[in-house]
Amino acid sequence: MTLRSRTIAAAGMNKLELPGVAHVVAVASGKGGVGKSTVSANLALALAAEGQSVALLDADIYGPSQALMLGVPEGTRPDVVDDKMVPISAHGLQVMSMGFVTSAKTPAVWRGPMASGALQQLLAQTRWQDVDVMIVDYPPGTGDIQLTLAQQVPMSGAVVVTTPQDIALLDARKAIEMFRKVDVPVIGIVENMSTHVCTECGHEESIFGAGGGDSVAAEYDTRVLARLPLALTVREASDRGQPLVVSDPGGTTSETFRQLAQQVIASYIYQSRAGPEISIVDD
Ligand SMILES: Nc1ncnc2c1ncn2[C@@H]1O[C@H](COP(=O)(O)OP(=O)(O)OP(=O)(O)O)[C@@H](O)[C@H]1O
Ligand SMILES: [Mg+2]
Repeated sequence: MTLRSRTIAAAGMNKLELPGVAHVVAVASGKGGVGKSTVSANLALALAAEGQSVALLDADIYGPSQALMLGVPEGTRPDVVDDKMVPISAHGLQVMSMGFVTSAKTPAVWRGPMASGALQQLLAQTRWQDVDVMIVDYPPGTGDIQLTLAQQVPMSGAVVVTTPQDIALLDARKAIEMFRKVDVPVIGIVENMSTHVCTECGHEESIFGAGGGDSVAAEYDTRVLARLPLALTVREASDRGQPLVVSDPGGTTSETFRQLAQQVIASYIYQSRAGPEISIVDD
């Protein structure tokens, strides 16, 4: 067994073993449509730009979106080598999605335990190659599927995405509480669509209100890791399969994603040094 797989196996009892994966970070929110997948894709690419070897698991089995966001052509299927699937390579990331292994109609009929089982199988039956960090793009909500995923996958931490509206913040609280319940550290909050930048004049406005992320962060003793603007370029880049971090690496939003990536790296590196995993080093 490699040091990486030993480390992850030791991180929690009865957890899924993920050989070849050192750290797993969830990107979640209670609410749908707040930008989990956008943040997951750009964060994964920013982590790669920081020199990490990165995997991205699209865990949204009812509405996978990473294939589209990362420009993976429709109908792409993973190769199978020695009974394991080889992740799809996109922009240098190792990507796996239920969308790669099912037909468009299949996922909709799955119920909770079946869906969780399918996700576990997808994770375990993929040959992950020397991954420093795997980003898990969560399905919306805080139900059984989300909780089971947080319990069964050895997670180093979670990033909670929210928009500044009260209704989204309420769901962000639920997501934070869900991770706390299963002892997954919340690394912090990403406030997406924090401000609106006018394409005509560049004027920036807090159309959904301001300060919401800060108040939730204070309430739960965590912090706002990044504030991302609501910008046409963000959506267009994702729709083209070329997320901003790769299509506009020098832009201010890409810089924000890189700063987010640095904080995420710091969270798991610190944890490895401080946690029990440090004692299991091969001699
Ligand atoms: N900062 C942003 N600026 C502009 N558009 C954005 C921004 N963030 C996300 N979007 C767009 O909003 C839509 C929803 O985003 P996304 O799919 O990332 O959300 P999600 O939380 O993953 O949704 P779901 O709950 O359905 O999985 C997408 O069309 C995306 O391109
Ligand atoms: Mg999504």
